Amino acid sequence: MENANLKKMLDLKKQNFKIYKSDAIKFLKKLPNNSLDVIATDPAYSGMNNHLMLGKGRIVGKYKDKGKKDSKWFNEFQDSEENYRVFLSEAFRVLKPDSHIFIMFDSYSLVSLSHLVREYFNLKNIIVWDKVHIGMGHYFRRQSEFIIFACKGKRRISSRSINDVWPIKRLTRAPYPTQKPVELFSRMIMASKHKEDKEYIVCDPFLGSASCGVAALKNNCKFIGSDISNESILMSKKRLKEYQNNKIDIYEKTKDK
Ligand SMILES: C[S@@+](CC[C@H](N)C(=O)[O-])C[C@H]1O[C@@H](n2cnc3c(N)ncnc32)[C@H](O)[C@@H]1O
Repeated sequence: MENANLKKMLDLKKQNFKIYKSDAIKFLKKLPNNSLDVIATDPAYSGMNNHLMLGKGRIVGKYKDKGKKDSKWFNEFQDSEENYRVFLSEAFRVLKPDSHIFIMFDSYSLVSLSHLVREYFNLKNIIVWDKVHIGMGHYFRRQSEFIIFACKGKRRISSRSINDVWPIKRLTRAPYPTQKPVELFSRMIMASKHKEDKEYIVCDPFLGSASCGVAALKNNCKFIGSDISNESILMSKKRLKEYQNNKIDIYEKTKDK
């Protein structure tokens, strides 16, 4: 892509958000170097799902229907080490010098992939998302997920009194599969953005229903994101427009002043 087009992708002067239907890596490859303030993302790992296919361990819907309309499973990002390294190197390239990245992991991908983050970033913390209520699972039932927090270069967070266990209730009956609470992304963004930051660009290349996008708008940031699924793009556009125009989050049913 020409340089002018690259810049256009990030031209957020007239709009507060832009979203693209694209594979995450292809999308990141189109962004200019050193252009984003923070990446906060919740990738669709394939490892955990394949793992849960063992025995009778199907947890939601039919895995073989993944990606089809109304399926509870979406297409996953193929999280081979090789693919994950490309994702991380692109994420590193597009982030500004001295910036932050937050990447969500389930317990399975935390063990299989998170060590790769260190090859590219300065890994600083693992934050535990405590979902407050017990969930499903084999052997021990799951109540937590994890967020790796890392820096490109050096950048402090906005407060020195944030702890690393975040109790935030999981969403039940949310419209998008594995939709995460906006509050989770809000905490990441609030930790990354400092009072003096004016235009702060937040990116989520695995958009889903745009929970990260709503969190970005709530915190007066600009947002750019992508997802491979049509359903995600349609739902996200609707949600972000409604939030931008009326401060209503239609998928969590909340209204801000
Ligand atoms: C775990 S969900 C994100 C949920 C989101 N955080 C929310 O709260 O709604 C992961 C998303 O990644 C998308 N996805 C899967 N493979 C992808 C790829 N290769 N590139 C971009 N998006 C992909 C899926 O369509 C799905 O919407």
